[in-house]
Amino acid sequence: MRISLSQAVQNLQQGQVVAVPTETVYGLAASLSSVEGIEKVFALKKRPPANPLIIHVPEIAAILPYVKEAPPFFQELAYGFWPGPLTLILPIKEELIPAVARAGLPTAGFRVPKHPLTLELLRQTGPLVMPSANLSGRPSATIPEHVEEDFGEAVPVLEGGACQKGVESTILMYEQEKWVIVRLGSLAPDAFKMALGYAPAIVQKEAAEKPLCPGQLFRHYAPRAHLTLGGKLPMQAGTFILGFSDRYYPFQHRVIHLGSSHNPAQVAERLYYCLRQLDQEGAQEAWVDMNFPREGLWLTIAERLERAAQS
Ligand code: TXA
Ligand code: MG
Repeated sequence: MRISLSQAVQNLQQGQVVAVPTETVYGLAASLSSVEGIEKVFALKKRPPANPLIIHVPEIAAILPYVKEAPPFFQELAYGFWPGPLTLILPIKEELIPAVARAGLPTAGFRVPKHPLTLELLRQTGPLVMPSANLSGRPSATIPEHVEEDFGEAVPVLEGGACQKGVESTILMYEQEKWVIVRLGSLAPDAFKMALGYAPAIVQKEAAEKPLCPGQLFRHYAPRAHLTLGGKLPMQAGTFILGFSDRYYPFQHRVIHLGSSHNPAQVAERLYYCLRQLDQEGAQEAWVDMNFPREGLWLTIAERLERAAQS
């Protein structure tokens, strides 16, 4: 069901869950002030309670009351990248944020998204928690139809078109005197050089005891099809291929085009759409062309594909 902005505001204020667009992916929103709504988000997604949510606000000033102590270069990052596809993990005043939303951690993730409709929504509702609007483990949703595939009538959707970026926000955390990337995303590591004077290190896989980003522990982004990443291209006719529109593959294969091999922004935008397309077409197996650079936004694309291939 598609709903209007005013209906979405009303639902959220009543502690209900609404899917809303952002520039990265669709989010499954509940009001930060409704513990019941937040619990519904976890239940609907079948999300492990140990995986905390990101808090979305309409402007930087709305974050400050929650923050215990802003790390160095917070202002540079905030004013440099918000509204936009950046999430900052910050130490918080615990009494102000329900423990369910942050999996009991003394920190929380914050983001000011860049989507006019969602900013207007946030101005009217106040802070919203929003994980990606997919069943836990599935590829994220980048169009309203994806949300409906996963949740049917259970979640009304605020229609906001297709998401421009197509992959989630980049998540930064301040650890041992430096900002580090705990989840690769829509902003490439180099994007932060101007603001920080260095490209943050990518700290993805942590010792299981204390992961910097709990979400990295769980299976993610996976279509039903089994993915083979690179290596020898299978010759069998009818094999599904996730490949590039400017390359040739054997004609008897079914190629789903991620976009041009020279345009990582386009590939990122289409990535989850293509993973879901495999399911739409009933693919059991698919071969993925991994012949692309490991730099910039390609790093994020490679990481998502690697996680999608884990079973
Ligand atoms: O682009 C995005 O970030 C989208 C849109 C809807 O804004 N949201 C999103 O949320 O990707 P989600 O829930 O799918 O991913 C949030 C990630 C998880 O990996 C979670 O573990 C991590 O953020 N996270 C949240 N709070 C954290 C915290 N306090 N410390 C470390 N990691 C945190
Ligand atoms: Mg997600």
